[in-house]
Amino acid sequence: MDKTQNVMELLKVYNQEHVINLLEKLKGNKKEELIEQLIKIDFHQIKELYDNTKKEIEIKENKIEEISYLDKAKLKYEQREEFDALGEDIIRKGQYAVVTMAGGQGTRLGYPGPKGTFKLDVYGKGKYLFEILAENLKEANKKYDTTIPWYIMTSKENNDETEAFLKKNNYFGYDEENVMLFMQGELPLVDTEGKLLIGKDMKIKEASDGNGGVFSSLRATGMLANMKERNIKWIFIGGVDNALLKMADVTLLGMAIKKEVQIASKSVVKANPQERVGVFCKMNGHPKVIEYSELPEKMAEEVDSSGELKYGESHIMCNLFTIDAIEKVSKEPLMYHSAFKKNSYIDEEGKEIIPEEPNSYKFESFIFDAFEFFDDIAILRGKREDDFAPVKNKDGVDSPKTAKELYEKYWERQ
Ligand code: UTP
Repeated sequence: MDKTQNVMELLKVYNQEHVINLLEKLKGNKKEELIEQLIKIDFHQIKELYDNTKKEIEIKENKIEEISYLDKAKLKYEQREEFDALGEDIIRKGQYAVVTMAGGQGTRLGYPGPKGTFKLDVYGKGKYLFEILAENLKEANKKYDTTIPWYIMTSKENNDETEAFLKKNNYFGYDEENVMLFMQGELPLVDTEGKLLIGKDMKIKEASDGNGGVFSSLRATGMLANMKERNIKWIFIGGVDNALLKMADVTLLGMAIKKEVQIASKSVVKANPQERVGVFCKMNGHPKVIEYSELPEKMAEEVDSSGELKYGESHIMCNLFTIDAIEKVSKEPLMYHSAFKKNSYIDEEGKEIIPEEPNSYKFESFIFDAFEFFDDIAILRGKREDDFAPVKNKDGVDSPKTAKELYEKYWERQ
């Protein structure tokens, strides 16, 4: 059977006749391109993901327990000194790398370009989010007399624009040799009947597979191998949209080394028990970030003997992994979550439909779903005003306006 027949068979088996109709109409390059794309799609996986959207969420007998953490502000002087020295040593030896996940679509912000190219209106002149990150890393390089390799994860959708932007801005003074872009994977979008969506370019519509895709894409793109060649031992992985993200925190790194764990994370305490954020816990004996919607209300309010919330450490996309941890997780399939979203498509008559209501499912994995592959995690509580100025929404909470205020206030205090 040749590849066209093969693809046709698969489309039939998986009820994608509308794609067969399209293939029959297409000619030459366009047809070839679509066939090449279809060959790479795992139809079985897509069917499974779609079927899961129909299932009631299983309420398993999960055992949820609080997880221990240290508060950076309350560390004893000697302990802090010890952590800092351990962390600093790794960075100075050139065994530390940073990954920025910049493959998101930033739909809530509503800004048309890649989020890292968004200019935060600080100090009149403004600073791009990528510029703020580069400044943070350059400061660490100067302090520890090194150049930290900086890996930036993009998506198929925003890779070229990100690359051109960084080049045009001369990598904000970062050593070009040490900035490596790599693309994350994609998964097809499906409608409410599990049919693949067709885009304006006559291809199947796909979207980034979520920030949990970072592990497998580090491997698939050769970046993991590149890190090994450079003798990297610890990797920080953070988001692109926190203007106060500290990517080289020696206390966090040293604490992870001292505790002999493979993963570590910086948290900030919940603003109030009802805040809608994911918090750390142990689930069935493994570290886990539990969504606010899954944490029973009573537990969300529980406090320990010192009056602190038992489930109060929010995950802020500020994570550390050993190279072995990345190697391990890059081979494990992470679970996928589905999001029901609006996506335009081409109908059977070739007309573009721009929906006004959500019409299709996007499948994403989340970076924190990797935690449960480990027995333990070191959590360091930072401070909201020092560590967390997210740019998520167009207005209101976690918007450019709140991030600008937090950023400027932080730098006034330094
Ligand atoms: P969010 O989950 O906040 O998504 O990403 P987003 O794309 O920025 O925004 P919305 O939800 O569409 O409004 C947190 C971090 O993970 C990255 C983002 O770029 C951000 O740094 N991310 C997200 C990826 O790199 N790839 C993805 O597929 C999703």
